[in-house]
Amino acid sequence: SRNYYAEEYRPQFHFSPEENWLNDPNGMVYYDGEYHLFYQHNPGGNEWGPMYWGHAISKDMINWDHKPIALEPDDLGMIFSGSTVVDWNDTSGFFDGGEGLVAIYTQNGEGQKQSIAYSKDKGRSWEKYDGNPVIPVDPEIKDFRDPKVFWHEGTEKWVMSLAAGKKVMFYDSPNLIDWNFMSEFGEGAGAQGGVWECPDLFELPVDGDSDDTKWVLQVDIGDGAIAGGSGAQYFIGDFDGTTFKSIDEPDHINWLDYGADFYAGQSFSDIPDKDGRRIMIAWMSNWLYANRVPTEEWRGSMSVPRSLELKTTDDGSIKLFQHPVEELTALRDKELFRVENQIVDSIKAADLLDGIEADVFELNAEIQLDQPVDFGIKVRMSEENQDETVIGFSESKNELFVERSQSEELYFSPYFNGRHAVSINDSKVINLKILVDKNSVEVFLQNGEYAITDLIFPRDDSRGLDFYVEDGEVTINSLEIHSIKSTWK
Ligand code: FRU
Repeated sequence: SRNYYAEEYRPQFHFSPEENWLNDPNGMVYYDGEYHLFYQHNPGGNEWGPMYWGHAISKDMINWDHKPIALEPDDLGMIFSGSTVVDWNDTSGFFDGGEGLVAIYTQNGEGQKQSIAYSKDKGRSWEKYDGNPVIPVDPEIKDFRDPKVFWHEGTEKWVMSLAAGKKVMFYDSPNLIDWNFMSEFGEGAGAQGGVWECPDLFELPVDGDSDDTKWVLQVDIGDGAIAGGSGAQYFIGDFDGTTFKSIDEPDHINWLDYGADFYAGQSFSDIPDKDGRRIMIAWMSNWLYANRVPTEEWRGSMSVPRSLELKTTDDGSIKLFQHPVEELTALRDKELFRVENQIVDSIKAADLLDGIEADVFELNAEIQLDQPVDFGIKVRMSEENQDETVIGFSESKNELFVERSQSEELYFSPYFNGRHAVSINDSKVINLKILVDKNSVEVFLQNGEYAITDLIFPRDDSRGLDFYVEDGEVTINSLEIHSIKSTWK
């Protein structure tokens, strides 16, 4: 049998398809104790092509069972991105008065239109609605796709966000079949460097107070994002069931992630209220080079699931914070290193992580800056110090960065090389959570206030680590490293 986990660059704790191409996460829904992840998939090759919905099921969002393809192309076209909801009250009439799953997705053929399909057996098999499409092609709008649907409690109806050119259009429906255009958002707002794709609209408490909520509209742009190429932005505002109004200044941009490889994120539908989490998974790649990343058997993987929260920051603005879901800690394996309360200068730093080897791991650190100083951590480093990925803090620029320009395999695309940075609010304490897999780093800064997600393609035996401090000293309040277990059986 096939030894998946040993394949070159094969992610060990991030979702990837058993074989062939993957892009956006689709149809993410929690139902009857199971998380469903569907995804843009070309079962016939390792490049983007005819799009199907691949499918996997999990009890914890971390260990996934690969399932047969859920939706395949038909006369109306390929199956592009979309969402799935639980139709609890059979508003659609598909479930004989019971309940079931309804998927809402774009079909790309002669123009883009929206279709639906339903499942009466917990997502194992799908029936396409015979009246498709439910929203026909609009000849005026070329890019018209990626419906994300939710039940709006306040007005008791379904609401759809749909990407349309460089805007989001909102529709409502009593039954998931008949859709009525309500309003649009986006004219001149946020980042406009490419077409908007994969919107998602949800409500979250501010600072954990469920009486004080705001709405988040996350939307991706195909080009011109902060790290180049495709990326994710979000708006914070209010939604009354008809219209979304942003509270951000019109020219303000909120980036969801400052790395190059976090795209088309979507949140799970129907996670129960008592749990109350809003959990997002995104595709870890970038349209600039997605078709060329140097993997063979499969191409494309997902971010770890991230819990989203709204918090008021020191400067008074509300921001989206992200944390890997706590389920991930079940994969923690051996503790490889730990120090606490240690003052470290350049010379001590050079020895600190000597001899530690790790290729798939989690690193948590809190570093105190007693004086202006640059410091950082190098991961996936070769013995000869030729290849490495640097996660560093630059004091003069007040920024945290991931530098992958020495991460070995770079030359498959002129756009891959690079350093991706975020300027942070002034702070004497730098908090870092770094997740490293065979071909990625996900960095969470300042307790999730910022994230940087980047693919890397290091040599398999580049497993060294290094802590560096330039001209000065820092206090390591804490630094610990755990290896992470593989989810491949
Ligand atoms: C985003 C996207 C979507 C589209 C899908 C096609 O990455 O371009 O807008 O539905 O990919 O695979």
